[in-house]
Amino acid sequence: MMTRPKPRVLVAIPVFAEVLTGLARHVEVDAPCGTDQNIEWTAEALVARLQGVAGLLVAGAPRIDAALLSACPDLRAVCSMAVGYNNIDLAACTAAGVLVSNAPDVLTETTADFGFALMMATARRITESEHFLRAGRWTHWSYDLLAGADVHGATLGVLGMGRIGQAIARRGALGFGMRVIYHNRSRLDPAVEQQLGARWVDKTTLLREADHLVIVVPYSAASHHLVGAAELALMRPTATLTNIARGGVVDDAALAQALRERRIFAAGLDVFEGEPALHPELLTLPNVVLTPHIASASLPTRRAMAELAVSNLIAVLDPGTGLLPPTALNPQVLDRPGATASLP
Ligand code: GLV
Repeated sequence: MMTRPKPRVLVAIPVFAEVLTGLARHVEVDAPCGTDQNIEWTAEALVARLQGVAGLLVAGAPRIDAALLSACPDLRAVCSMAVGYNNIDLAACTAAGVLVSNAPDVLTETTADFGFALMMATARRITESEHFLRAGRWTHWSYDLLAGADVHGATLGVLGMGRIGQAIARRGALGFGMRVIYHNRSRLDPAVEQQLGARWVDKTTLLREADHLVIVVPYSAASHHLVGAAELALMRPTATLTNIARGGVVDDAALAQALRERRIFAAGLDVFEGEPALHPELLTLPNVVLTPHIASASLPTRRAMAELAVSNLIAVLDPGTGLLPPTALNPQVLDRPGATASLP
């Protein structure tokens, strides 16, 4: 009996060895990054490597657009182990009949933990204090030595009230007795608002009233520089700003200026415009806590994200499983009568 060759998958990012092994049971795997090598894919290199390839595993990079799709006619699935998918042109993929999936839900609580931690580190000047201590500058006691802003009982402003925003709001309201206000294009159901202890306000009110602003909106053309000089000018001089959304949602140059001029108290940033490069001034300011886009980075969560991406790939490329991709963003490109909705 003739056996059909397995479809090929390019794993364009480093990933857990066990996850690669699981994938290889269903498809032929090309994993040039192995478990620990990063490749800065140029469009040309990616196109060359994708010839004859049916599936692609990525994260928040590289960029997948119409030009790449038309140069890679065998591609049928682009599965990302990130929740944000602004690097993938979803409309172009749909038009080309390429299924796209992301990795929501499994990272919600881990990312909310990190957002809250970054906000607290920012308010209480944790990294600045450590630098002070390591530099041998702790020689005296003073009533205002590295004094910061209170978190408990303060007003938490959440910009973007999706799953992660809601998980942060819950932490603030239930764990820290915070007054929680939020702004989102669509309001939550009043019952959910009540459960979270959160009140919808317009964006101006949010910026004016928040003691601690946490930004969790997806990046799109509409959210580009959602917080720039004009918005920063509305904030309290005692307020903090934490960005765990995407670089580009905040205008980093305007933020650096506001921090330098102490027009806001401090910022906590996990994401940057043009990352991994940073606006150079951010590196020189004491009142900013900087982390390298790691909000979802606990090992169990990163593992769950990778497994989810692989589950999507297998469901698309191995129809023998009879399963539908669990977190497809454009499930309409698949025509699978009789398939079940998710992997067991
Ligand atoms: C991380 O930023 C993600 O989108 O998962």
